Amino acid sequence: MEFGLSIARFEPSSSDHCSALIRRSILASHQSFYSETEISVLIAEYSAEKLVQKASNRLVFVIRTEEKQILAIGSAKDHKIKAIYVDPNHFGKGLGSAMLAFLESQMSRDGHIFAELFSSLNSEQFYRRAGYDFIRWHNDTNGPAIVMQKKLPTKCLNP
Ligand SMILES: CC(C)(COP(=O)(O)OP(=O)(O)OC[C@H]1O[C@@H](n2cnc3c(N)ncnc32)[C@H](O)[C@@H]1OP(=O)(O)O)[C@@H](O)C(=O)NCCC(=O)NCCS
Repeated sequence: MEFGLSIARFEPSSSDHCSALIRRSILASHQSFYSETEISVLIAEYSAEKLVQKASNRLVFVIRTEEKQILAIGSAKDHKIKAIYVDPNHFGKGLGSAMLAFLESQMSRDGHIFAELFSSLNSEQFYRRAGYDFIRWHNDTNGPAIVMQKKLPTKCLNP
C-alpha cells in the first residue's frame, strides 16, 4: 500500500463521505454488467444511514490518507467478506488488494478456515487473482453474483 495510507475502523461521522464513495465506485464499475434498476437497488443499500446500521453488526474498515481522506471501504462478518469499494479515482493502485488481505487476516485471527464472498460480475477477476474459486451463481434484487471461496492460512498450533 502507498506510503502514508493506513487502515482504520469506520466511524459513523464519515458515513456521508463513505456512502458517496460507494455510489461513485458502483457507478464507475457496474454499468456494463447490471441494469439501472439493479444499480439503484444496490446504491440504496449503502445510504449513509444504512452504512451506520451495517457497521453495528459487522467489521467495517477504511483506508485513509494521513489527512484522513477515505479512499476505500471494506467489511466482513464472521467468515464472509461483505463488500470492498475503492474510490474510482484510485482503482488499480492496490487498495482493493490491501483491504482484502487485511479482512482475511482478521478472519484468520478469529479462527476461520475459509473466506466466502458474493462477487459482483465486474469484480470476479479481482477475486480470482486473489485466490478465490467459483462455488455457485446467486441471484437476488441486486442482480446476479458469484459465490466464491478461498482457504485461509491456518494458525500454527505446534511450531
Ligand atoms: C474490485 C475492486 C475492489 C478492486 O480494487 P482495486 O484497488 O482497483 O484493485 P487492485 O489494484 O488491488 O488490483 C489487484 C489485481 O486485480 C486486478 N483487478 C482489479 N480490478 C479488476 C477488475 N475489475 N477486472 C479484472 N482485474 C482486476 C488488477 O489488475 C490487479 O492485478 P495484478 O495483481 O495482476 O496487477 C475495485 O475496482 C472496486 O472498488 N470496484 C467497484 C466496486 C466493486 O465491484 N467491489 C466489489 C464488490 S464486493
